Amino acid sequence: KQIVILASGSGSNAENIITHFQEHPEIQVAAVLTNKKEAKVLERCDRLQIPAFYFNHTSFRDSDTVVKFLQGLSTDLIVLAGFLWKIPENIISAFPNKIINIHPALLPKYGGKGMYGERVHQAVKENGETETGITIHYVNEHYDEGAIIFQAKTTVNPSDDADSIAEKVHQLEYEHFPKVIEKLLS
Ligand code: GRF
Repeated sequence: KQIVILASGSGSNAENIITHFQEHPEIQVAAVLTNKKEAKVLERCDRLQIPAFYFNHTSFRDSDTVVKFLQGLSTDLIVLAGFLWKIPENIISAFPNKIINIHPALLPKYGGKGMYGERVHQAVKENGETETGITIHYVNEHYDEGAIIFQAKTTVNPSDDADSIAEKVHQLEYEHFPKVIEKLLS
């Protein structure tokens, strides 16, 4: 089975998934796609020897370039790991129930446009939540609204700040995301 990861930023989840499947080669990370030329994920791919490709907004949204590329790799699952553009309809319809995303909170709370990264953890802190977590879900045409596949929780203590919440959430992501991918493809 082959998966393709889409990432816009640091790519620590991408790296964690890549190294996980280097040890479980029944699933292969065929490529990483990014929409940011300067994304740190590109350095990680270089080091890990994973093919990485950049595409711009026009080829992503207004053409079949990315769909054809993904089909050419016989992609069984498209994994969004910190990918910040909305997935266009042509990709969604070409890969029904084959696109998943990870969100760093317990959806439906703290989801939607503009709710990503640090902002999510800041909002969790400001609202005095006592727990947060991760959500892995299918991707549809709305941000963070596809069917939920998996959630895991962690506690938020009064002494936590956005950084320490982020740290806990990342640990949950590293622990569970590769396993959920494995399960979906088994
Ligand atoms: C993760 O927290 C993920 O849940 C969110 O974006 C972050 C990406 O982090 N969608 P990284 O690029 O994998 O380090």
